[in-house]
This record gives sequence, structure tokens and C-alpha cells, in this order.
Amino acid sequence: MAVVEIEIRANVAVIQVDNPPVNAISSQIRSGLVEAIEQIEDNNAVDRAILICRGRTFMAGADVREFSQQPQPPHLPEVTAAIEASHKPVTAVIHGQSLGGGLEIALACHYRIALAGSRLGLPEVKLGLLPGAGGTQRLPRLLGAEAALSMIVSGDPVSAEKALESGLIDGLCQLSTENPLADLFEYALDFAQHLDLSETSHRRLSLRSATAPNAGLYDQWRERYTKRQRGVDAPQACIDAIEAATSLPFDQGIARERELFLSLRGSDQSQALQHLFFAERRALRNTGVGTAQARPINCVAIIGAGTMGTGIAMSFANAGIPVTLLEIDPQALARGMDRIASQYAATVKRGKCSQDEAEQRRELIQGTTDYAQLARIDLVIEAVFEKLEVKQQVFEQLDRHCKPDAILATNTSYLDINQIAAVTSRPQQVLGLHFFSPANIMKLVEVIKADRTSDVAMSSVLQQLKRLGKVSVTAGVCHGFIGNRMYQSYQREVGLLMLEGAKPSQIDNALYQFGMAMGPLAVADLSGLDIGYLMRRSLDESKYEQRAFLIHDRLVESDRKGRKSGAGFYRYDASSTANQDDPEVLELIKTIATEQGVEQRSIDTEEIVQRCMLALINEAGHILDEGIAASAADIDLVYCHGYGFPKHRGGPMQLASCWGLAQVEKQIDELARTQGPRWWNASKSLRDAAQKNSW
Ligand code: 3HC
Ligand code: NAI
Repeated sequence: MAVVEIEIRANVAVIQVDNPPVNAISSQIRSGLVEAIEQIEDNNAVDRAILICRGRTFMAGADVREFSQQPQPPHLPEVTAAIEASHKPVTAVIHGQSLGGGLEIALACHYRIALAGSRLGLPEVKLGLLPGAGGTQRLPRLLGAEAALSMIVSGDPVSAEKALESGLIDGLCQLSTENPLADLFEYALDFAQHLDLSETSHRRLSLRSATAPNAGLYDQWRERYTKRQRGVDAPQACIDAIEAATSLPFDQGIARERELFLSLRGSDQSQALQHLFFAERRALRNTGVGTAQARPINCVAIIGAGTMGTGIAMSFANAGIPVTLLEIDPQALARGMDRIASQYAATVKRGKCSQDEAEQRRELIQGTTDYAQLARIDLVIEAVFEKLEVKQQVFEQLDRHCKPDAILATNTSYLDINQIAAVTSRPQQVLGLHFFSPANIMKLVEVIKADRTSDVAMSSVLQQLKRLGKVSVTAGVCHGFIGNRMYQSYQREVGLLMLEGAKPSQIDNALYQFGMAMGPLAVADLSGLDIGYLMRRSLDESKYEQRAFLIHDRLVESDRKGRKSGAGFYRYDASSTANQDDPEVLELIKTIATEQGVEQRSIDTEEIVQRCMLALINEAGHILDEGIAASAADIDLVYCHGYGFPKHRGGPMQLASCWGLAQVEKQIDELARTQGPRWWNASKSLRDAAQKNSW
């Protein structure tokens, strides 16, 4: 069938769209819809139409892949204008998702009905865009400015049930039989047959006026989003466009929307966000595990009920999967179970789930201190102390007590998973699952394939993580895998910058302004400086730049371990404010610089950001050279989902593309010249990328 077809049912024209998998609105669909409207206008046998989609969903938006190509007419605003201008009322019949341009088409229709359970939204802002086909002008005319702000600026979809309540849709088809799509079709024909044709022109949203909201509403939203999404353009442009809807006639509002849309469409921010959208989907497909059949995972066990173990347990329970939580002693177990209970209580308090749901989830987590309880478990995730011997002892126990086909995973941050697998009789079933803290909130998981891990084990956990709603990135074994290995290079540069004269607050502010969720020294204080200290003690000294961590080490040795001890790079007492330099630390930095013969100088924000980013990019290049990560896009996912890297910059590798890969190569070569080649040796991947101008 063509992507758009018309079937005549008595006096009703049925316009059907078919563009799998999500009916993205391609240029063919746009021209097909305009032609369909023209045909219906000319056909005297029909006096009304329904617009319905085949497959799993209504139209999920403009075809994003076309944004990088020369735009082909008709443009989407022309399509929505043509639909709305039709003299015969068109009813949008929604199932699955009606998103972005898909909802804008529905808003241009004269009526909208939906199948129960569908979702409607304008998520363009999440791709660094705004609804560019009349959505910012029609929605405020239908629901008012405040409701439009809430949907368009957040980008979050609403349920069909909520849409009926608000007036976004005019009818809801309940799920009653085993064939809901057939029911929806019958419901739609019946709905269309009962329309009062004399109302058609009144149903055109462009003819309605949008009421101006209370003074100050737009400024409140601007302020909120300046804080919530620092430096991100799209939310602000969405607010501007909605303000135009309530202050200008429709045609002028549409012109303003178009102007704002075009300014965002080619922007670096939008490209970065689109890059992440496709990277997430590619990561799900390109796992490097071929077609290995996944085994079902119906129950899991977590070893260690500390910070990570409790968070991981909650991630599984939240997806309805029973968890056995094993601790070394009953007191530690009780503390862990209490932590879980209080986290669920906080979730209820924040309105994220009901008391009953929280209770059900909590009951799915059962504590034990007895390995015999693990005999039937499908997947075990160890999250005990970061010490090889301790983990090896745990894995020996697991190997003894778990069924032969159970998968055994470790949440280690740095340790060699091959050495952990080696103590078991089933190294093919041992792998790394590196969750991020807090594990029940953070979406990223690095899935580490050790030398002997089987594809079946990988495929089984990847499928399971998808069920949990996680973003999985596969990685190979090395010290720190993808994320922590790069983070160490970033911290190295931070340490060297301090020795060379940058103050801690200056570094933190520079990187915070760049868009990082927190400055690196505030992060170090929060996680505890002793963790890195202990990790470095277990490392061969040739593996890291010792000079760069002298300040960190000296702080730990004087009992400044970060927030938990009341002081680290900053002080955390009543008299100090956030990110305020402590004279004692500045003095310590000076002393170490003198000891090391480093002459201090004034360093500007640009140099701080550039060196820290180049350190990440160069290490990432080596990670690609070694095959630890499968692609540059995977590395970006790790940084944006696990390390607070600003999503509107798309990750370090996308940033390098945006800066110009040849330019980045040149800057790294210059740093190799001035700082020495030990840590600034450009990777082969970067050299190749600079040649072909893409990763
Ligand atoms: N354009 C192009 N391809 C799209 C797409 C889009 N808008 N939406 C989804 N796809 C592709 C995905 O890349 C994926 O491709 P793959 O199979 O080759 O990897 C495939 O469709 C299936 O997508 P998902 O794996 O994401 O399927 P799910 O069922 O998990 O989710 C969805 C479906 C909720 C529709 C989700 O894909 C989604 O959120 N899509 C984006 C929606 C969106 O942002 N729409 C706005 C677009 S911008 C716009 O409309 C501008 C207008 O205002 C002018
Ligand atoms: P934690 O110290 O909070 O918890 C560890 C728990 O393991 C404690 O409750 C302890 O009683 C228990 N335990 C110790 N030995 C045990 C044994 N033999 N059997 C059963 N339980 C035992 O540590 P945290 O922070 O949860 O870290 C756990 C692991 O996760 C480490 O490998 C760490 O490197 C890794 N990790 C930590 C992250 C973090 O941000 N905290 C992030 C990602 C990984």
C-alpha cells in the first residue's frame, strides 16, 4: 500500500497512513495527506473523514532523519493548514502515541478521539526543537496558555484519559475486546457519523482566540527553565512561541513559530539532542552479541545491601521482579532494608507512586544472610566492597550455591572482571553490570563483557535491562571501563590545573557554566576523596599521573575526606557557603606546586574547559582504539547519562565534532608539545576521525 491511502465507507473517507515502525511523517506522508484532503474536497460522495494509522501507533512526529536533508515541500505547517481548511470535518483517530508533528496534525483536525491507553504529547523540546507545525499556536487556543506551557515546555506526554478530561480529545474508546484496533475503527466511524456538519468551521482552532494569561506567567516559566535547563535554548523558544499565540493573530503567531523553529532546527544543541536520541536506539541494537537467544530472568539476587545494592534491588522491584538481598550480617541487612523502606516512603511523599505500589515493590525485596536461598536465582549482582579478594570470595560462594545456568554479575567500578570470573567454574556466565548511583534513578548501566562471557549471558542481561528502562552500553574490560577511565583523565587535568594556578572554585564554576551538573571538585567531595585515594593505592604508579593527585591525597591524609568528614576541597560547616575556596586548601595547593617546581599563573575559564574536555576526548579515543567501547556514540551516552554531561552538548565526542575534529586533533598535539606526550598522545581513532571528519 502507498504510505497514505483513502478508502470510502459510505459517506466517510477513511484516510490511512502506513509508514512503519512509528508512522514518522516523511515527505511522502506530507504530500500524501495534502493530496488526500484535495481528493476528499472534490468527492461529492463523502462529507466527512477520519484519519487513522496502521501499525503500532498514530504518527509519532516528523521524520527526524529528514532534518539533516534539504527540506522537501509540502512542509508540515502547509499540511496542517490544508487539513484544517477542509470543508469536510476530519477526525483524528489516535492509538499508541500521537507525538510532535503527529499531535500537530491531530490539532489541525476538527475532532480528535483516542483509544484508552494512548499517549499524546509535543516532545520536540527534548530534541532541541519546538512544535513547528502550529502546535504552539493551536494548543494554547484549545487548552489555554498554562496547560500549553506545561505540555510543550516539559515535552512530557499525557494519557488519553487526561486528554479527555482537559478537552484535548473529544472521545475515548475503551479497551473492551481482544481486538482494540477494530473496536477503535468502529468507534471512529460511529463518532464521525454523528457529527453536526454545521459546526465544522467553528472547530478550526486557528479561528479561536487565545486568552492572555496572568501577567508574569511567561517570565515565571522563563526563570524556572533558566534554572532547570541551564543554557538550553529550546524551552525558552517554546515559551516565546506560546507567548506569541496569546499576543498575536494566528497568522503572525505561526510566522513567529516558524522563525523560532528554523533557528533551532540547525542548531548545535538540536543536533546534539538528536544524536543522543538515535544513539540510545543504536545502543539497543548494536550490542555486539549477534543473534544469541536471551534467557528469561525471573528472579534476581543482590549481594551487599549498601548504597549500590539497595538501589539496584529497587530498580528490579520497580519493574515487578522479585529480589533476594543478601548481606554478610543481620545488622547490615537491617540497615539496608531500612534504607529501602525510607526511599520508598520518600517516593510516595514526592507523589511518584502510591502507598500501595510502594508497599508492593518493597515486599518484592526479601532479605537474607544465607547463600542457600540463592539456589533458584537466574541473575545475581554482587555489590560488596571494592576489594578483589572480597569479591572473589563472594563469587566462590555464588558458584557453589547458584544453579549452573545462573548469570553472575559484579558491580565493580574498576576491578578486573576476568580475575573475578576465574574463581568460578562458569566464567562464560560472569560479566560486569556497572550501575550508577543512585541506581534506582540513574538510567545508565555499563554492561561489561569479560574475555569468556558468552553472548547468551550478555543478551539475557541486556534484554532484562531494557525491561527496567535502563540505557545499556556494552564495554570491554579495562581499569574503570568507559566512564570511570575517562573520568580519571578528567580529574587528572583538574589536578594539574590546580597546581598550575586555577582555584578549585574557578574550576568548578567554569565546568558548571559549561553545563556539567556539578563541578569536578564538588563531585569529588560528595563521593568522598578517600575512595579515589584507596583506588590509587591499589594501582601500579605508572598507571596514573601521580603529581595530579597530590592535592587530593594530602587532603585525605589530613582527614579532609569530603562532605562526610565536614571538609575536603571545600568546608562544609555553618560558616562556609557552597564552592567557597578555603584559604587552607589554597595554601596547600601553593605548597605542593612549589614542591613540584610548578610556576603558578593565571588561568582563564576557556583553558579550564578546553583542557578538561580534551582530556575526556583523548582518553575516549584510546578506549575506541582498544575496542573497549563499540562507538563514539556509546561513549556520549555514558557521559550524558552517567556523569552529568550536558545533554544539549551531546557528550564529549559530539562536542569534538562540533568543535571540529581536525581542530581538536591540533589542540591535542599542541598539548602533547607543551605538557608532554605521556597523557596527550593522540589516539588513532581521533586521527582517523579528523581525516574523515566524523567518528
Ligand atoms: N523520526 C524518525 N525515526 C523515528 C522517530 C521519528 N520521529 N521516532 C522513532 N523513530 C525510529 C527510531 O529511531 C527507531 O528506529 P530503529 O528501529 O531504526 O532503531 C524506530 O523508529 C522505533 O523507535 P523506538 O525504538 O523508540 O520505539 P519505541 O516503541 O520504544 O518508542 C516512540 C516509540 C515513543 C514513538 C519513540 O520512538 C519516540 O519518542 N520517538 C520520537 C518522538 C518525537 O520526538 N517526535 C517529535 C519529532 S520532531 C517533530 O515532530 C517536529 C515537528 O513539530 C515539526
Ligand atoms: P557500600 O559500602 O555502601 O556497601 C557495601 C555492602 O556490602 C555493605 O553493606 C557491606 O556490609 C556488604 N558486604 C561487604 N562484604 C560482603 C560480603 N562478603 N557478603 C555480603 N555483603 C557484603 O558500598 P557501595 O558504595 O554500595 O559499593 C558497592 C560496589 O559498587 C563497589 O564495588 C563499588 O565500587 C561499586 N560502585 C559504587 C558506586 C557508588 O557511587 N557508591 C557506583 C558504582 C559502582
